[in-house]
Amino acid sequence: MSISDNNYLWWQTGVIYQIYPRSYQDSNGDGIGDLQGIIQRLDYLKWLGVSAVWLSPIFSSPMADFGYDISDYQNIHPLFGSLDDFDQLLEEVHSREMKLLLDLVPNHTSDQHPWFLESRSSKDNPKRDWYIWHDASPDGSYPNNWLAVFGGSAWEWDEHTQQYYYHGFLKEQPDLNWRNPEVEEAMLNMMRFWLDKGVDGFRVDVIWHIIKDKKLKNNPVNEYYNPQDSTYNQVIPIYSTDQPEVHDIVRKMREVIDSYDGRLLIGEIYLPIHRLIMYYGENNNEAHLPFNFQLISLPWNARQIAAAVHEYEKALPENGWPNWVLGNHDQSRIASRVGLDQARVAAMLLLTLRGTPTIYYGDEIGMRDVPIPAEEVQDPQGLNMPDKNLSRDPFRTPMQWDSSENSGFTTSRPWLRLDRAYRRFNVESMRADPCSILSLYKRLIEKRQQEPSLTYGSYTPLFSDAQVMAYLRHAEGHHKFLIVLNLTHRPCYVDSSKIEALQSLRGTIEVATLPELEGSELHNKFTMGGDEGILVRLRNEGQAFFPSTN
Ligand code: NOJ
Repeated sequence: MSISDNNYLWWQTGVIYQIYPRSYQDSNGDGIGDLQGIIQRLDYLKWLGVSAVWLSPIFSSPMADFGYDISDYQNIHPLFGSLDDFDQLLEEVHSREMKLLLDLVPNHTSDQHPWFLESRSSKDNPKRDWYIWHDASPDGSYPNNWLAVFGGSAWEWDEHTQQYYYHGFLKEQPDLNWRNPEVEEAMLNMMRFWLDKGVDGFRVDVIWHIIKDKKLKNNPVNEYYNPQDSTYNQVIPIYSTDQPEVHDIVRKMREVIDSYDGRLLIGEIYLPIHRLIMYYGENNNEAHLPFNFQLISLPWNARQIAAAVHEYEKALPENGWPNWVLGNHDQSRIASRVGLDQARVAAMLLLTLRGTPTIYYGDEIGMRDVPIPAEEVQDPQGLNMPDKNLSRDPFRTPMQWDSSENSGFTTSRPWLRLDRAYRRFNVESMRADPCSILSLYKRLIEKRQQEPSLTYGSYTPLFSDAQVMAYLRHAEGHHKFLIVLNLTHRPCYVDSSKIEALQSLRGTIEVATLPELEGSELHNKFTMGGDEGILVRLRNEGQAFFPSTN
């Protein structure tokens, strides 16, 4: 259907919430979160108002990369539970009128997957070509200069069969060869297995990596490499990622998705906007939502963010639905990147822009990166490049539920240590506090769901300067909303004489980062405190003074 119809789909109007299952809720006292634990917390998610839950991988895995190394795509890791637990979870999610999304990891398997064990057993094994094998260069070195995201060469020597295999991430995560039609068929069938069960869609891991240059051409060297960065950045991955053929694969995934009712395909893609939008497909026949990570990668600066939102809005293909992400399990948390006070402004930005927002678990209570002592680091990215501070453990710590021992996450020792401040920063205490960031998230989600202008209305940029950005959201026949966000800690003065569109401003503040402002009237020139954001319902007589939103 077209988004110009007034008939929007659940994933367009709803809010997505990402759970990192190891860290959400432990139900059996082993210190690691599990599916029964998630079931126990579904009423919280319903209360918060989210529409869909995306789970990072829960499948059988040796856990070299915490589940992104899968050894059986159609089974659940016993740490998380069983297939029966999964069926129960799905039913419980659906009974609360929410949706469940799984993480699909089609680029690579675990080196313990039976496919790879077969593939490496001999050069003439029928599964040999399911992975990317290559002879050494004449001097015995790697087939090319491609690097692994987690450090070192992307090629691993196999003594037994005297060839290298390719792995874009860990050597325990060999890349599948998507040029082999049997691989494609196996993967699409695996999608069908979960869709038949009733899952509502997938977030596809590193979708832009799936297919590589056929000739394995060398990547160009990055002349601007900063030795403090990951070693992966020493070359520019133009031949190992984002190849033209990837779009055929995404289209095929979408065909599978579309053969079921109302399912969703999200792609994980870290690319500049002009490359990112290609993943919508020429006729919107690829990913419904190519994840848009700009709010993660951009400096926290009103002018730059406003410009990027504008650029993204303009670049979207017709009927391509926007989306926004503030954080995930690979990125420093928003509260650590911009501070706790700005994290509230960021929440308002995420939940008032046009397009589907994805919330990373714990961001709604302002969880921060937790310092993990060197001897407790578990993330392979951190362990492989120990001098570069690249561990992702700090962003994956247990959810802070209450002020009891271990924050209500587990009855034993949690797999990763908790934030020492969890007795102050937790769901229970914040739920009771109308001024908390959690209460702000809830009010914003509620307002977004109630007001068509915020759910699907148009986006009109108004102005931005060194401190503030402002925009309008409006759906025909509904209240018009003005959003003004101060992205700095310093107060500012919004001088309406400079902004023609604001000269006759009349409205009521409906949601504010500072709850004391809610319900107050706003007109003409106004001041804003540092770290302040306001969502203003405009009064009709003001409308004539605003630019057309069409
Ligand atoms: C992206 C995932 O988000 C990340 O956590 C993982 O390590 C890599 N893909 C490899 O699967």
